[in-house]
Amino acid sequence: MLILGIESSCDETGVALYAVKANANTTSNATKGLLAHRLHSQIAMHAAYGGVVPELASRDHIRRLIPLIEEVLQEGKRSLSDLDAIAVTEGPGLGGALMVGNSVAAGLGFALDKPVIGIHHLEGHLLSPLLDAPDLPFPFIALLVSGGHTQLMAVEGVGRYRLLGETVDDAAGEAFDKTASLLGLPYPGGPSLANLADQGDPNAYKLPRPMLHSGDLDFSFSGLKTAVLTLKSRLNAPLQPLLPEEPRQASAFPVSESSPASTTPALISAPISAAISANIAASFQAAIVDVLVAKSLAALKQNGMHRLVVSGGVGANKSLREKLTLEAARQGAEVFYPPLALCTDNGAMIAFAAALRIQANPSILRSPRKDFSIRPRWNLETV
Ligand code: KG4
Ligand code: ZN
Repeated sequence: MLILGIESSCDETGVALYAVKANANTTSNATKGLLAHRLHSQIAMHAAYGGVVPELASRDHIRRLIPLIEEVLQEGKRSLSDLDAIAVTEGPGLGGALMVGNSVAAGLGFALDKPVIGIHHLEGHLLSPLLDAPDLPFPFIALLVSGGHTQLMAVEGVGRYRLLGETVDDAAGEAFDKTASLLGLPYPGGPSLANLADQGDPNAYKLPRPMLHSGDLDFSFSGLKTAVLTLKSRLNAPLQPLLPEEPRQASAFPVSESSPASTTPALISAPISAAISANIAASFQAAIVDVLVAKSLAALKQNGMHRLVVSGGVGANKSLREKLTLEAARQGAEVFYPPLALCTDNGAMIAFAAALRIQANPSILRSPRKDFSIRPRWNLETV
């Protein structure tokens, strides 16, 4: 069975061709099934505006989608008539962007008389680590950390997802992006902030760990961004030196010997240096990673589980990966990640999620959706 996967929910056009061998367990030969995948990122186009411009995103999906489909068919040495099903991100996402992928999917389905399967974008992310971990059994805990979502889910099986906790304000990726922008880094800020953090001291400034002790599995990241803003303006402020003997009233204070606490007022009154920016980036990343790790481990413990899968763009963060793997091992748990190239949005995860859905319930091929639908807002628990 050959599935074409289409992803167009935000600022990446992703297309993939996924082959499922008849009677084979999909997860046991998962990566081999991926015949071809292509991705066009719109980052360069949106960078000038500091964020995704929905109308431009839709127009670009229109330009890219058909050529990308042609490319994957060519690379996979298949033709349209070989397709058995078309999988497409039905939601959540930007309405106009979803319309493009779903229009093309519906058109292909109609023209080829093949079923169209609508996939939840987060289900794609959540199942994508199975592409690289064929023997990973259910149940497991999933940490979904993207630009729009931060959720902990209990995954009992394909299509059986239980929300354990989520962010009450900004998503983790959004916090990375907004903080990066405060530091003057280009959009999208996550990867550039992470790179800058590599050169800084994560203990330079003690930033808050929001909701660390809230007793639930929810997150809040908007205050962290505000703490960075406060810290940065303190460090920028002329004639407001951060001397070590100054009373410690704010939480965003330098704590290490090498931190700007010991620098002279003259230096602090100048715009913050690259070294200080790197220290802020590292301290911010440490705070966000601490919270994500602590809540993920708590989710494992509370549910008596020993497997955690991490997905979504922030799942590419090196520091998060290192700390999660280390701390989970201390608790006797194992962490699984998608291949790095498939952490951000892509068509492979959509085709693969459809393959798993078909395997779990082959009847969906006989009763595919007939209407054209998109779901810009869609709760994963209801799929
Ligand atoms: O899953 P994704 O590609 O798109 C959404 O569905 O949102 O995630 C994109 C998010 C952006 O906020 C981006 O800054 C963040 O993931 N991101 C990272 C890293 N790579 C991407 N955040 C931190 N560290 C990274 N290495
Ligand atoms: Zn995503």
